[in-house]
This record gives sequence, C-alpha cells and structure tokens, in this order.
Amino acid sequence: MTKLSVNINKIALVRNSRGGNNPDLIKVATDCEFFGAQGITIHPRPDERHARYADVFALKEVVKTELNIEGNPNTKFMEVVLAAKPHQVTLVPDAPDALTSDNGWNTIKYKEYLKDLILEFKSVGIRTSIFVNADERMIEGAKETGTDRIELYTESYAVNYHTNKESSIAPFIAAAKRAQELGLGINAGHDLNLDNLRYFSQNVPGLLEVSIGHALVSDSLYFGLQNTIGMYIERLK
Ligand code: PXP
Repeated sequence: MTKLSVNINKIALVRNSRGGNNPDLIKVATDCEFFGAQGITIHPRPDERHARYADVFALKEVVKTELNIEGNPNTKFMEVVLAAKPHQVTLVPDAPDALTSDNGWNTIKYKEYLKDLILEFKSVGIRTSIFVNADERMIEGAKETGTDRIELYTESYAVNYHTNKESSIAPFIAAAKRAQELGLGINAGHDLNLDNLRYFSQNVPGLLEVSIGHALVSDSLYFGLQNTIGMYIERLK
C-alpha cells in the first residue's frame, strides 16, 4: 500500500504565528503516527516561516515511522540534513521566497549538481528523492543523477482533475511507468486531497508514498486530525 507522509509545515506556521509552542509540532508529529500516518514530512525554508531547521533534529528524535525532509539544498539545508540523517531527503528547486514549491527539477540541466548532492546524502545513508514534473525526459534525467526515488509534482493533476481526470492523470501514468522501467522509486505530492487522491493512487503504478499537507491540515479543522488521517489512508487502500 502507498504510504501517507503527513507534511506538518502548516502546524509549524500556526505555532510560529504566536511565538510560543502551541500547537506543539513534535506532539502533532507523534500523534499523526499514532493515528496511522506512515511518515512525517517538513519543508524548512530559509526564512523558517513554517518548519525551522531546529525542528529537523527534534523530529529525528521522536519519529518512529519515516522522517522526510524536503527543500532546496542550500548550504544550511545540507548541513542540517547531513547532520540529522532523516530517512529520506527530497530535493526541491523552490526559490527562497516561493509561497510553495512550484516546479520540478530540470534534471538534464542540473544533472551534475544533483549527482554530487545525492552522493553526499547517500554517503551518510539517507535515501534520496528529487521533485520532478511528470515528464519522461525529466524522469530519465533523474535516473542519471543516481537518486533512489522521484517525487512527482502533482499540482497539474489536482488542478485539472475536475475538468478531465483521464487526461490530467495520463502524464503521471506515463512518467511512473518510465520510472519503474528505470528502477526508480515513486513518491508524489502537492495539492493532493480527499477528492483526487483515490483516483491518483489507483491509477499511478508503483506509488510508494504520498506527502500531503495543506489539504489534510485544512480538513482536520472539520473532521479532527485522527479522523482525517484515517480518511486519507482509506483513499490509499
Ligand atoms: N511535496 C513538496 C515538494 C512540497 O513542497 C509540498 C508542499 O510543501 C508538498 C509535497 C505537499 O503539498 P500540499 O501541502 O499541497 O499537500
């Protein structure tokens, strides 16, 4: 079954808005696991407006499932991730002031750059994943970097799902098939929600993990965190 990794950046955003420790990010992470999540993700950005770099170390102490740290591999990010050694790192080419990730890597242009970074993470035993658009050329480029996995950037699927779900998922099916042929593991994320998740997970072959934050945290305001995690897991069955 596809694993659900809960992105708790939005919890950190609420915490930061008052300067204290409410909600407690670490407690939320352990509760997510208790409620069935099979992984925890954070995305520390240079301005630390959501998750902070210090959160990476604190989470590494408590997360019993899989800790995934995603972000742009700037110097600070590299230093923190290499020291904390989470289970997985997901490299994302987002600009420091980006509201959220808005593109996958150009794995052809940045092949050598990514290759060096991936070697560094793998040398300390961290599984690597790189964020890519559903484009077979980018998947082939990803293979050349030596990464273990790719994370498919699902925003275009989510945006077009209600207009034409067959055409919106077609590039993701093709990309996943190519990744499978090349022996790459497949993760996915961005804008997945209770409406579009089941169709995605039922149709994209070999999907190992989805990372979901914004919609899941928003849904939990209505359904509660425990129910909401259960509902997302049910969509992945
Ligand atoms: N994957 C990556 C690389 C992301 O940057 C994000 C958002 O931080 C997600 C997945 C999760 O997206 P969402 O918050 O829309 O579920």
